[in-house]
Amino acid sequence: MILTRRSVLQSLALTTAASLTRQTFAAPSDSPAPHDPDRPSFHLLPARGWMNDPCAPVYYRGQYHMFHQYNPHAAVWGDMHWAHATSPDMVHWTRQPVALAPTPNSPDAQGCFTGSSLLLNGHPAIIYTGVQTVPLAQATLSDGHNNYRETQNLALPTDASLRTWTKHPQPVIPTPPPGLHVTGFRDPTPFRIADTQYLLVGSGVAGQGGMVLLYRATTPDLTQWQYLHPLLEGQWSGIPGTNPVDTGEMWECPDFFPLGSSGQHVLIYSTQGKTLWHSGTLDPETLRFHPLKSGELDYGHGTFYAPKTQLDAHGNRILWGWLPETRPQDEYARAGWSGLMSLPRRLSLINGDLHMEPAAETRLLRAQPNPTPNRLSSSAQEFSCVLQTAAAGTPTPYTLYDPFGPLLEIRSDPAQAPNTLRLNDLHIELPKPLPAQARLHLFADNSVLELFLDSRFCFTHRFYRSGTLARNPAQPVATLTLPGACRIARPQSFAVNSIWSS
Ligand code: FRU
Repeated sequence: MILTRRSVLQSLALTTAASLTRQTFAAPSDSPAPHDPDRPSFHLLPARGWMNDPCAPVYYRGQYHMFHQYNPHAAVWGDMHWAHATSPDMVHWTRQPVALAPTPNSPDAQGCFTGSSLLLNGHPAIIYTGVQTVPLAQATLSDGHNNYRETQNLALPTDASLRTWTKHPQPVIPTPPPGLHVTGFRDPTPFRIADTQYLLVGSGVAGQGGMVLLYRATTPDLTQWQYLHPLLEGQWSGIPGTNPVDTGEMWECPDFFPLGSSGQHVLIYSTQGKTLWHSGTLDPETLRFHPLKSGELDYGHGTFYAPKTQLDAHGNRILWGWLPETRPQDEYARAGWSGLMSLPRRLSLINGDLHMEPAAETRLLRAQPNPTPNRLSSSAQEFSCVLQTAAAGTPTPYTLYDPFGPLLEIRSDPAQAPNTLRLNDLHIELPKPLPAQARLHLFADNSVLELFLDSRFCFTHRFYRSGTLARNPAQPVATLTLPGACRIARPQSFAVNSIWSS
């Protein structure tokens, strides 16, 4: 979001109570951005304009609802609205009218920032951060460009299709906890224990580190909240800077949920251009979280940020992330669109390790298989294979080609440390060597490559065919170097259908 961090990423009751302010907005402009060979065709993104964080994904009455941070005026960050899209299956989307827009002279006058859905009387409600410009001394967010007061706000749907929303007239959490000089106060996310509704807010303290603040609802209508304590506190990187998100003194977009049968919880947050996960135990007495294992959600370079999770129709925990552009701002501003949603990733916890796989619904995107699996017939494709570290198969190097040249080269290097993976210039330390058989799964969608390895290591890469970062047709877009003497077995690939009619 916030301007200086953007640069780091490049180097979102049915009640008729008369007291609420009703909002109705026009549908976002459906006139598409001009043709762009780099625009993805099977990922969710607005017809034009800027998008960032996923907000409040929820399955309700047989439909998936996704909201996200959205600037309808230009393909650059600013004037944050909430766009809305619906889907029967998490992969085919219909754009809906804007759900939330800033209300002039109100606590969200400068933007409706990221938030989440929570159930109120059996219906989804939205809790989100509103921002309003204030003098520096009153600001909770100062990033060198903006001085905002951040407050947590509630909105309730006025229709069962969640198209129109009514904002509660005042913030439900108007100030950070007294005595805490926060570096930020935003991105609320709920969780429940039995009948008690809790809320986490992303925050931090200068010189100490990022943290997530824990609140408990004290009224059933979720308009009153009591601050308890930080659920978890981090440590400052020691690097000074003007934007606390860049220095690790502010954690954005927390998400917290139970996962698997072991009774463990997972905490996710974003800071310093990365998204981190911790699995561990939530002490039911002290309500403190004790992480046991940690990792990075995606090893791309600032290409996956501010994710949010939801339960799907079958009770699976699904993760969505914002995939920002990595080309220069003037290029994406000119292209008329910026940012997209990741494909849905199904999460599981195995021995405390977070595993991520493409949701089964992604198979609904498949068109015809390619007769020769490593020759992809277009720039919208799915590929998978088994990587064998100790058996027969096709020896590496193995190159996947799309119509524009080599896309991915898979190599193995016996000289490489068994616990190291290389993805282009990134070195990834594995907690232990890859197993004898590991699955590689990738989706290529024009300028996006989403890669899943052994369901534990995800890597999102952006590459462009046009503009200053034009793809070099002779060079592979990505090179994956595996330790040992790896072979490829059971490769298969499919063309992927566009999810849009225009
Ligand atoms: C994360 C973020 C959030 C904020 C939103 C504003 O990308 O910075 O912390 O609510 O973007 O668009």
